[in-house]
Order: sequence, then C-alpha cells, then structure tokens
Amino acid sequence: MPDKNNIPAHVAIIMDGNGRWAKSRRLPRTMGHNAGLKAMKEIVKHANVLGIKYLTVYAFSTENWKRSKEEVNGIFKLLISYVASELEELKENNVKVHILGRWTQMPDSVIESLSRLIEGTKSDTGLQLNIALNYGGRDEITMAAQKLAAAAVAGQILPEDISQEDISGALYTGQEGIPDPDLLIRTSGEMRISNYLLWQIAYSEMVFTDLYWPDFTPEALDKAIEEYQNRKRRFGGR
Ligand code: IPE
Ligand code: IPE
Ligand code: MG
Repeated sequence: MPDKNNIPAHVAIIMDGNGRWAKSRRLPRTMGHNAGLKAMKEIVKHANVLGIKYLTVYAFSTENWKRSKEEVNGIFKLLISYVASELEELKENNVKVHILGRWTQMPDSVIESLSRLIEGTKSDTGLQLNIALNYGGRDEITMAAQKLAAAAVAGQILPEDISQEDISGALYTGQEGIPDPDLLIRTSGEMRISNYLLWQIAYSEMVFTDLYWPDFTPEALDKAIEEYQNRKRRFGGR
C-alpha cells in the first residue's frame, strides 16, 4: 500500500490503449473507450480515497481529431453519458470537475453537458478532477504567449519582465491555480508524452505501464504511487 504521508498532490494520466484493448478482444474501438471510461470512474474514486488533490486525465487531444468521425463522435457521446450517469455520485464524493483545453469548440451537446458538470460540482472541496479535452500542450503554450503578448502591447507588462510564473499563470492550469504534476502515468506501453502538459511536467516523475487503460485498476494506481514514493526527487539539486 502507498505511504499515506507521501501521496502525490497532483497525478496526471495519459489514458492510452483503449483501441488495442478492444482489438485484442475483437471488439470495435468504441467498446474500448467504453471500458476505458469504466476504468476512469474507478480511478477517480480511488484517487479521492487516497487523498490525491488533483487528478488530470487526458481524454481527447488536439491531434485526436485525425481519427474517424465515427470514433470521435463515439468518444463525445460517451462523455455526455458520463455526465448523465456520474454527476450525482461525483457530487456525493465531493469531486470538483474542471476542463483543460479548447473544449468550447466542441459540439454544443458536449458543451452543454460539461457546463452542467462544472456548475454542479463547483463548490465541491474534495478531489479536483481535471479533464483534458481538445487539449494540446503546444496549443496551451501558444495561447499563453498570445495572452502575454497582448498584455505587453496594452502596456500592462514589459516583455523583459515576463517570468516563468507569468507563463505558468497564463496556462489553463495556472488560471485555476493547479500545481505542476508530481507524477505522470502513461498506460499501454508507449513511452512518449503526446503533447500532454509540456510545460508543467518539467520535474514530474514518470511511470509507464504496459497495461492497456481499461485494465488499469485501483491496485495499479497504488503500485504506480509506490514507485513514485521510491524515487528520489532532486529538482536539479544534489
Ligand atoms: C486512448 O486510447 C483514448 C484516446 C486517445 C481518446 P486509444 O484510442 O489511443 O487506444 P490505442 O492507443 O489505439 O490502443
Ligand atoms: C494520447 O494518446 C491522447 C489521449 C490519451 C487522449 P494517443 O493515442 O492519441 O497518442 P499517440 O498517437 O499514441 O501518440
Ligand atoms: Mg493511443
């Protein structure tokens, strides 16, 4: 079991491998996303029990639009069903939901549903679940650069005064006061970042597992946290 006194405050997850999970069972990819959503529900509950403060999950990247219309719509439909079935339970468990990314460019039905989710959980004080949706790390940094450039043009800040804190603050995460992830987990055996939280993971510990996302259980989260707890974080010091 993980040491209760050293639980990472912020865990970020790249939930990968839904498609391969489905393929290995000769099921359509959408069934993989369905199973992935079930896994996510269990992980959210367990993260809350463990006392993790922020859980950030990668649900849809700015690059995922390259997939078939059928798959993309299937993912959106699942999101809507997630809100419909989980809102009450999230509230009961005191989970606050926040969305990172250009989610206001999603279809109206998705925006409506997510707005309900944010509104319904906004005063919750337990785990903060950040869902990265239509999210891209480079897109986020570009947006921050545009904001700071506009502030400079408006005479609110001098270019040479722009600090790392200003950049952090202009990101989706900074606007919400979300600290950088302590632990980044990626499932499915891939060892890449795929445009996730590029700025924020500068000193995150990384744990990669071969499990496909639908097979990632609360026990697997415990194991990843134990691995994190055995790491020596140095932040460039000695
Ligand atoms: C992750 O699973 C979910 C999303 C990217 C939406 P994938 O759909 O990428 O699954 P694989 O990588 O094809 O197995
Ligand atoms: C990353 O997975 C995005 C999400 C989990 C939402 P991908 O499956 O899109 O990443 P690549 O294509 O393997 O890099
Ligand atoms: Mg993938």
